[in-house]
Amino acid sequence: MFKKLSKVLSLVTISVFLISCSKNHINRNHPDYAKISLEDMQDIFEPLPDQVLKLEDKSTVAQVKLGKKLYFEKALSLNNDISCNSCHMLDKFGVDNEATSPGHKGQRGDRNSPSVYNASLHIAQFWDGRAEDLKAQAKGPILNPIEMAIPNEEEAIKRIKRLSGYTDMFKAAFPKEKDPVTYDNLAHAIAQFEKNLLTPSRFDDYLKGNQDALSNDEKEGMRIFNEVGCTSCHNGVGVGGGLYQKIGLEIPYETEDKGRFNVTKNNDDMYFFKVPSLRNVAKTGPYFHDGTVKTLKEAISLMGTHQLGVELKKSEIDAISVFLESLTGKMPEIAKL
Ligand code: HEC
Ligand code: HEC
Repeated sequence: MFKKLSKVLSLVTISVFLISCSKNHINRNHPDYAKISLEDMQDIFEPLPDQVLKLEDKSTVAQVKLGKKLYFEKALSLNNDISCNSCHMLDKFGVDNEATSPGHKGQRGDRNSPSVYNASLHIAQFWDGRAEDLKAQAKGPILNPIEMAIPNEEEAIKRIKRLSGYTDMFKAAFPKEKDPVTYDNLAHAIAQFEKNLLTPSRFDDYLKGNQDALSNDEKEGMRIFNEVGCTSCHNGVGVGGGLYQKIGLEIPYETEDKGRFNVTKNNDDMYFFKVPSLRNVAKTGPYFHDGTVKTLKEAISLMGTHQLGVELKKSEIDAISVFLESLTGKMPEIAKL
């Protein structure tokens, strides 16, 4: 219900924006047009929280520790050669910088690996939102025949029980349970670890009130990003990640992937994807759901054309790119090896 509402609201926002553009004939050449105000930006964006998961008791801390070990566990793949970190490398902003990722026996799927950083703040997981949260998501790749290719949950658990150390870690993480080494707990622990994979940046310092945290060029890029309408979709705490939208809203975008339609079978969802978070986007290329767009500037230009129906000028693309680079954050301690 809420998701539907937010979709409707976003459509309304976009229409209002497009109508107001044509009415006011925005002069995008005028240097002083709509000088950026911190308050306006605080209405559109939100700084990252310090934590998503409160580490308030011993068992929660034990779950995070277990989840981290599992995240790097290659025994959770049929040939003992792939872990979550193979496609979502924590020292590479949570991606592998490949268009599509090699999984079991080098097989590749049709979609680009999104980052695990800040993913806990998205409305749902995957490009089409088919997993409702990180826990539901984590159950998928281990059993996916072209990713980690373990035949079934029992086999995954058998493998974990054979390795030394895990049984005690599961007991510490789930102290009330008699037989805590289960597939559900395994997914829960991985999700707990992922929740605090947050990458605060200078952009967050700015949103918290330090106006000097961004350079004038970055602020100018942010102004243009907002003024041309990128913020109608890329907004909130993730600068994206908060709603679904159609790729090719204004001018059709060629793709075989029907996106969210595959999940809902609802024609209104044809070619809808989760609007990706743009945090760390300068580091997470190649771009789009299929990884076919190689550079950030190319991605910005395509967005102007297909999502907004405007041909952005080179100077505007450059400025937006400078702003987006300021979204590159610091990796948290918890992600370090
Ligand atoms: C072989 C590469 C590969 C492996 C291994 C892999 N993933 Fe992924 N991951 C992907 C791809 C590709 C997607 C996007 C698929 C889609 O949207 O349909 C994805 C999506 C995700 C997402 C959703 C992020 C978002 O923004 O929607 C999360 C979270 C994630 N993976 C975590 C994990 C975890 C945890 C593991 C280990 C249990 C794992 N992945 C193993 C390739 C991989
Ligand atoms: C109507 C909603 C909408 C608007 C407006 C919009 N975007 Fe997007 N953006 C999306 C969607 C949906 C995707 C995912 C498209 C895909 O992969 O098929 C996306 C993807 C991107 C990507 C690629 C991210 C990645 O990780 O692959 C970048 C960069 C981007 N947008 C920047 C912008 C900029 C800059 C603007 C303004 C010029 C903008 N967007 C306007 C919805 C929008």
